[in-house]
Amino acid sequence: MSESILDSFNTRLADTAAAVETEIDRLTSSTVLPGEIARPQRLVDAVRHGALGGGKRLRPFLIVETARLFGATGPGVLRAAAAFEMLHCYSLVHDDLPAMDDDDMRRGRPTVHRAFDEATAILAGDALLTLAFDTLADLATDPDPAVRAALVLELARAAGIGGMAGGQMLDLEAEGREAEGLEAKSREAEGRNGSLSRPLALDEPAIRRLQAMKTGALIRASVVAGAILGRADEATRDQLGRFGALIGLAFQVADDILDVEATAEAVGKATGKDAAKGKATLVALYGVDVMRARLEEIVKEASALLAPHGERGAVLAAAAQFIAFRGH
Ligand code: IPE
Ligand code: IPE
Ligand code: MG
Ligand code: MG
Ligand code: MG
Repeated sequence: MSESILDSFNTRLADTAAAVETEIDRLTSSTVLPGEIARPQRLVDAVRHGALGGGKRLRPFLIVETARLFGATGPGVLRAAAAFEMLHCYSLVHDDLPAMDDDDMRRGRPTVHRAFDEATAILAGDALLTLAFDTLADLATDPDPAVRAALVLELARAAGIGGMAGGQMLDLEAEGREAEGLEAKSREAEGRNGSLSRPLALDEPAIRRLQAMKTGALIRASVVAGAILGRADEATRDQLGRFGALIGLAFQVADDILDVEATAEAVGKATGKDAAKGKATLVALYGVDVMRARLEEIVKEASALLAPHGERGAVLAAAAQFIAFRGH
């Protein structure tokens, strides 16, 4: 990859991150919107703790750059990008809760339930999730109601029962909770929701499906959302969707490698947790070296799907490379 592409990738990633920060800052302020009654300060603070001041902002980047392939730019695209990022932030706030991954650090800072309390973190997640759809549905995102509805549907399908939430369910089911010495907690859970305490040994297709749901779906949907905003035809959307699914897979494999190899300082969150929990990942199944080689192939396959876009596809190809081999 040439220096200039890499430079422009880095610059554009930083630019989008800054623009999305400003947009989320505005959307999560204390100012009430028509139809709202009041925004309680503690909830506003928790929402902002969860959504501002960190993160690579990769999903917004994918939306902005995919829309740009078709010449779509401007405030509406940025609103959609902020919406997808707020939904992602909600997923992190809930993922970190004691009932889920029980993490204390996220993006180099205390998790929301640590900085506030558990109930507030649940509500902050709820609020971010809802605000994401609010933002997409608002006229300011796109003048065409069909485009707004398509964005809402794309995000809903990616995030819900058959997407991310479903994937998180499979992820918890697959967890080897007793490996962490949590027998007592497991027994207690057994009483409430039986099967949760039994780890499942998943094979590659099952792990790929789990990861396509918990992480891949939102990344794929971000790319598709960019295509929707760009008024791409259905075939083009589908092709970009396949690109999105591949980089989604690469993204979670990279996250799982970082969990094995990176320090908490480098990634801003605890590492070494997947192995401790006996989590079903492809990295646990095949090892880091095999999966790094697989990442090369995935990136190649993904980049090939950008061929119809010629030179304009270069920044997204750089994004695929970054996603697979990032250090954080
Ligand atoms: C982390 O996502 C959670 C996963 C889906 C694995 P990111 O690595 O995109 O986290 P931020 O947004 O940059 O903090
Ligand atoms: C999180 O996956 C996926 C979602 C939040 C939907 P992980 O549990 O692997 O993410 P990290 O490692 O905590 O960021
Ligand atoms: Mg998790
Ligand atoms: Mg987690
Ligand atoms: Mg992880």
